[in-house]
Amino acid sequence: MNRRILAAAAVVALAAGGCTDSAPESPPSSPQAAKRDFKPGEDGVGDPYFPTYGNGGYDVRHYKLVVKYDPSTDELTGTATITAAATEDLSRFNLDFVGMSVSSVKVDGADAEDKREDAELVVTPSGGIAKDAEFTVEIGYSGKPVPIKSPDFGEGGFLHTDDGAIALGQPESASTWFPVNDHPIDKATYDVEATVPEGLAALSNGVPGGDADSGGWTTWKWSEKVPMASYLAFLVIGKFRVETGEHKGKPVFTAIDSKLRPGSPADQAMAQTTEIADFLETQFGPYPFQAYGGVVVDDDRIRYALETQSRPVYGGLFFKQGPFTEVVAHELAHQWFGDSVSVAQWRDIWLNEGFASYAEWLWTEEEGGLSVQESFQREYADTDWKNPTADPGRAGLFGRAVYKRGALAVHALRLEVGDTDFFRILKTWTAEKRNGNVTTADFITVAERVSGESLDRLFDAWLIGQSPPEIPG
Ligand code: ARG
Ligand code: ZN
Repeated sequence: MNRRILAAAAVVALAAGGCTDSAPESPPSSPQAAKRDFKPGEDGVGDPYFPTYGNGGYDVRHYKLVVKYDPSTDELTGTATITAAATEDLSRFNLDFVGMSVSSVKVDGADAEDKREDAELVVTPSGGIAKDAEFTVEIGYSGKPVPIKSPDFGEGGFLHTDDGAIALGQPESASTWFPVNDHPIDKATYDVEATVPEGLAALSNGVPGGDADSGGWTTWKWSEKVPMASYLAFLVIGKFRVETGEHKGKPVFTAIDSKLRPGSPADQAMAQTTEIADFLETQFGPYPFQAYGGVVVDDDRIRYALETQSRPVYGGLFFKQGPFTEVVAHELAHQWFGDSVSVAQWRDIWLNEGFASYAEWLWTEEEGGLSVQESFQREYADTDWKNPTADPGRAGLFGRAVYKRGALAVHALRLEVGDTDFFRILKTWTAEKRNGNVTTADFITVAERVSGESLDRLFDAWLIGQSPPEIPG
């Protein structure tokens, strides 16, 4: 791999205040110093594809989100309580927030000034926040949420439905329903409390905390106890058929759009969730989260599935012809590749999609369909090698070169190092980088260390070379 194109990744890690294992210690600050130089935090973490995603100067630890949504008026009322640690001396800082109105902002309980600038909420506390200090921001907001329109990815984020809402999307969506440091480099834990009219479900990530009725409303509680990238946070509201259970001591919670009949192919596919997760565990190492599940939404605008942490959301279109479990294998594979081990910059998205696509091949073989080798050969013959897998360009984020050519690169590694080392590499990666942020260079480093082979040329050819690479073996 050409490590030059990866060098910038380290910059992002620094900007976000040391969420990766590669961020160096900064010099000790002296709280006694008479004069501190409090400066505004940056309005982005420095991701070249999305310069305004995320913000500089702090690191969020936890989001507590209390929201109430009335589908009949499309009005959302929310309170976000964000616990963060300053990574610089801050005079002010930004959050990413789109639409609605902000009614109050408090920092550590004291009123703070707030200003909206496009997709940024600029918060100026009454005094500076010292580096390393932990602080709390409480933001009250309300209004009709608006989706994000992107030239490359269409409409995403909060979408109003006939009977509820779907807040979902990659690479961004969270900022349409709560103020957030919206970049995967800043992972945090979440508690969500969503109140909706009785009879509707309000679904989100992690461990279900139950639902309670009061005065015609139902409050649903969710808790994601393992750090999560913000694009993986979702909120789906509407009429759903819910199935709950337990697997290996963890809650299973699946929900299927009531528009789909009981026993539908979507039901059949969701019923295989834990079986598929167990199979993937044999390939990738221990399942990384505290809950299992899935949500199927039957809405024509959701033409994809998303690996929302611990509980993927699937567009109903995947199950129109039958229980298409490849997509379940894909989204569940992301729980390891993407969710637990997350990109530091969006340019490295093949570390998510290449492995998730490879998991489809593994699952297909497991089910008695094409062997992985056959899937590889088919795809190899059909690949346009002009498009790079690593650093695919912003518009290429969800392109075939990322997904399919990415899977080819994964299998090329397997052919090069052999099955034993290959699966050792995958399990070492998911264990060592668990809850972390990574780059392509990090993956090559682990693969080389575990296999004892030099792999730069292999990855160069498979990830960025412009002509068909030689197949190892
Ligand atoms: N990461 C998703 C997957 O599993 C794809 C998301 C595509 N996003 C979109 N807005 N179309 O493949
Ligand atoms: Zn994917």
